[in-house]
Amino acid sequence: MRRPLIAGNWKLNGLQSAAVTLAAAIREGVTRDSRTEVLVCPPFTAIGVVSAALKDTGIAVGGQDLHWQDSGAFTGEVSGAMLADLGCRYVIVGHSERRQFFGETDEWVGKKLRAAQAAGLEPIVCVGERLEEREGNVTEAVIGRQLDGALAGLSKEQMSKLTVAYEPVWAIGTGKVATPSQAQEVHAFIRARLGTLSDGATAREVRILYGGSVNPENIRGLMEQTDVNGALVGGASLKADSFLKIVRC
Ligand code: PGA
Repeated sequence: MRRPLIAGNWKLNGLQSAAVTLAAAIREGVTRDSRTEVLVCPPFTAIGVVSAALKDTGIAVGGQDLHWQDSGAFTGEVSGAMLADLGCRYVIVGHSERRQFFGETDEWVGKKLRAAQAAGLEPIVCVGERLEEREGNVTEAVIGRQLDGALAGLSKEQMSKLTVAYEPVWAIGTGKVATPSQAQEVHAFIRARLGTLSDGATAREVRILYGGSVNPENIRGLMEQTDVNGALVGGASLKADSFLKIVRC
């Protein structure tokens, strides 16, 4: 198992100057021998300047989305090769906001993660249930469907290089974090499902991040769980101070 990963998802925030200021402040607070791997995912327009600011620091940069085609007539889209060209190592795929507001399906998520790997990027595949699905006791059915729909047919090698993020939709941006035991329960389910889709040893290689209202106060309890291997952080990643506290938890 690799080091835990703490990833900041900046979403639709930050002109280039603000992004560089934030990246520089994070750079000051992260040591090379950090116990956790650190990743920031700026909006597309700031990736270039953030990559430059974080060059040779060991802090990774990622995209928030990609298209599955390398090039062509797909107005407004960005490819994996383009992200890699800007210095990205990672890319988030299938975030619930993309599923909810932009109609992204499990099939698209599957195509995108394969395109990301083909471009040499590490995809972070997001899954998670909505509030009514949790209340209707179909959390595992929903997440099982999301995983099967996107990951079926991956080779063990492709699977072992994945990162999965469990992000309950009801916890994103709401201040309502999953309890550590709720997170552990779903993370264990995800790992078991990955084992069904490949094998147990491969599934144990996959880092499973928790996301949804992570902050400096709740991170420790989450990270103590056996199957929580890091966090995908939205709001609290926009301030260097709170993001660094999470990194150092
Ligand atoms: P949040 O967002 O930390 O602001 O809840 C997490 C995410 O959407 O990845």
